[in-house]
Amino acid sequence: MIVAQITDMHIQRKGRRLYGIVNAAKHLRRCVERLNALKPRPDVVIATGDLTDRGKPREYRRLRSILGDLRMPSYIIPGNHDQREAMCEAFADHAYLPRGGQNVQYAIEHYPLRLIGLDSTSPDRAGGILDDERLRWFEARLAERPNAPTLVFVHHPPFRTGISRLDALGFSGVEAFGAIVSRHKQIERIVSGHIHRAMQVRWNGTIAYTAPSTAYQFVLALRAEQPLGLSLEPPGYALHVWDGTGLVTHTAQVGR
Ligand SMILES: [Fe+2]
Repeated sequence: MIVAQITDMHIQRKGRRLYGIVNAAKHLRRCVERLNALKPRPDVVIATGDLTDRGKPREYRRLRSILGDLRMPSYIIPGNHDQREAMCEAFADHAYLPRGGQNVQYAIEHYPLRLIGLDSTSPDRAGGILDDERLRWFEARLAERPNAPTLVFVHHPPFRTGISRLDALGFSGVEAFGAIVSRHKQIERIVSGHIHRAMQVRWNGTIAYTAPSTAYQFVLALRAEQPLGLSLEPPGYALHVWDGTGLVTHTAQVGR
């Protein structure tokens, strides 16, 4: 089974460019073409938040029309740039999505690799949050199928990245999240976005990973308080390949 991960697409309305220069829709279209052309083709696509830049209904309509070209099912979760209600409304035919602005959390059961999406967003903050209610739901899902190899996806990465401007945004509930993860050995990977770069780390007995953005990357700003600038490194995506015994994660570039 192959899971393609796209993230931080930051789709805007027509005519807009991120930072005045990045045409996010053009880059996402090219990425969709690439995913459709891959052989073997991915079985599913997961989109790990910051799907749009400002969470506006017309941005979601544009996103929807681009993702509509995917030749495989897609599963979406929000990032801090998204608005849950507008997102769920635009993707109303995605039956796994909740209605009415609830947390966007779900488990997809019918693949060899179980997929669990978590919602780390809150309307009033750019940082992450997993409160007690979301974590209780998560642990209950893990307890249901302790032997099912599982890929968890959540917008905010649960680890400190070393990029101080992003780490400063924080992640409320991350210690409790880590404690749950450490008790459930079936978690093959936790994959995120938010950082607009690829990185990975051992975390509570599993591997946590972030994928590059399909739109633009941030500079590798590892000095304390270094400004978080735009980097014109190529757009990218990830492929998580499950062969029945292990999950191999590839980071790929789309090119400009
Ligand atoms: Fe982002």
